[in-house]
Amino acid sequence: MKVILAEHSGFCFGVEKAINTVFSKMNEENIDKRLYTLGPLIHNTHVVNELEKKGIKAVDDLDDISNGIIIIRSHGVPEEVYEKAKLKGLEIVDTTCPYVKRIQNIVKDYYLIGYTIIIVGSPDHPEVIGINGWCNNEAIIINSIDQTKNISFIDKICLVSQTTMPIELFCEISKDLENKTNDIKKFDTICTATKRRQDSTRNLAKEVDAMVVIGDNHSSNTKKLLEICHSINPDAAFLIQSKDELPIDQLKKYNVIGVTAGASAPSWIIKDIVEILKEI
Ligand code: F3S
Repeated sequence: MKVILAEHSGFCFGVEKAINTVFSKMNEENIDKRLYTLGPLIHNTHVVNELEKKGIKAVDDLDDISNGIIIIRSHGVPEEVYEKAKLKGLEIVDTTCPYVKRIQNIVKDYYLIGYTIIIVGSPDHPEVIGINGWCNNEAIIINSIDQTKNISFIDKICLVSQTTMPIELFCEISKDLENKTNDIKKFDTICTATKRRQDSTRNLAKEVDAMVVIGDNHSSNTKKLLEICHSINPDAAFLIQSKDELPIDQLKKYNVIGVTAGASAPSWIIKDIVEILKEI
């Protein structure tokens, strides 16, 4: 079987930076405090389990801990979380991705000068919940063109996007909103790592018989990659988290398989899967 790996796949810059920061903190000499992550550090059960073995526990809420070091993951958090952590006397290690930090700063600045913030994103995604927390949780959050129809005239709009949204959707929504306001400030805040992964997945999916998408089904950017593959070949796109989930029997019938991976998929998992596929 011929196996082609997408040109851009796997750990993005933000996730790599978060993991390196956590490992270097963990290896600091004289560290006498317990380390916690607020939510799983990345959407990858294997990595989260490895961290847990090394004593780094994921907690859902700051109320779950009374002391120690809290790691803020690359998705970022609402502004109030920093205040609460300081009040509790927790040390903060902030691994918010710089691309996400930029969105938080934009929405804060424009909210303070009277703009209505609109976020193109999934309302229940931690990154979006975090961004909304920098504009007093007052953002309008939409993730389909139909939802813009429910928006009536707004004097001033600041439009941003969750970093992993498809660019086509952002452009469509932004065009529609232009007719509903006197003043729109548009920020294409989709990160380049996401764009590259989506473009190279799309190109590869058109060339091969079937696609294997590696990543967690809770990961937004992984789900988008799967959607792209489904849109090109609905019956031949498979989402797996590790080599144990490879649908070998179903893959056997194809000659050329494309492999892509979400931004939270470690390189060693991708490598293992590619090797196994080549053996089929
Ligand atoms: Fe950052 Fe983009 Fe990754 S926003 S965490 S570099 S997917």
